Amino acid sequence: MTEAKTYPPVLDACCGSRSFWFDKADPRCLYVDKRRETVQADKRKGRVPIVINPDEQADFTALPFPDDTFDHVVLDPPHGKFGESGYMAKYYGTLKGIDWRDMLRRGFAECFRVLRPGGTLIFKWNEEEVPVSEILALTPERPLYGHKSGKLSKTHWIAFLKPNAKVEPRRGSDVGSDDLFGLRVVGHNAPLPHFFAAEAEAKELRMCHRDHSPACLEVVRITVKPNSPIGLKTDSKHRKEAQV
Ligand SMILES: C[S@@+](CC[C@H](N)C(=O)[O-])C[C@H]1O[C@@H](n2cnc3c(N)ncnc32)[C@H](O)[C@@H]1O
Repeated sequence: MTEAKTYPPVLDACCGSRSFWFDKADPRCLYVDKRRETVQADKRKGRVPIVINPDEQADFTALPFPDDTFDHVVLDPPHGKFGESGYMAKYYGTLKGIDWRDMLRRGFAECFRVLRPGGTLIFKWNEEEVPVSEILALTPERPLYGHKSGKLSKTHWIAFLKPNAKVEPRRGSDVGSDDLFGLRVVGHNAPLPHFFAAEAEAKELRMCHRDHSPACLEVVRITVKPNSPIGLKTDSKHRKEAQV
């Protein structure tokens, strides 16, 4: 029988040179980056090269790990549209010339996929060029709280918690008022936000919270692939509030 591969509890999905780590070789973490290189980004005399040497070279939009693996994920993706040959691009990577919205949408979904239900994710973003609100719109997961740092308070550290409630498939009649968000998921028992994140593609759906009172409207943005194996059903009352 083949042994299941074991992993440390923490994943750093874009580790770069590990500069924010207290211990840059912490055995509790698996360090991942898509590049492995040593770059002399700062050519001034006496400056040391930047070493990017991940435990695994991988793309955070297609992580080679099973679902629900890590207790904690830290995600610090590239955040500036720096010119490729400059210091900042060599240090932090760049958003220039790529479909970064798509990359971050898929990256968030992947990081939440490999995070275990109940696990925490810390997201770091510097909003010098792209406001953090635009980035948070790329994931259906809801942030818990955050902190700003840096001289201009433009670097955000934001905590998320992966939900651990299972949405069991239901059979029979139309949706009832106790269904999550007034909608039900047919034929799938993955945790709801995770599943939708994995399916992220075409349409946007705005949903209301299960008690349907406008005061308690909780608008959640999800994306659903047309003709995907899930079916979303609403009864006539709820359909008014769900704009597809
Ligand atoms: C902001 S830096 C991370 C800095 C790091 N947290 C530190 O403390 O030094 C972003 C890193 O993401 C890496 N990166 C860019 N695209 C990636 C991808 N698709 N998958 C994995 N890593 C990626 C870059 O190579 C870069 O090292």
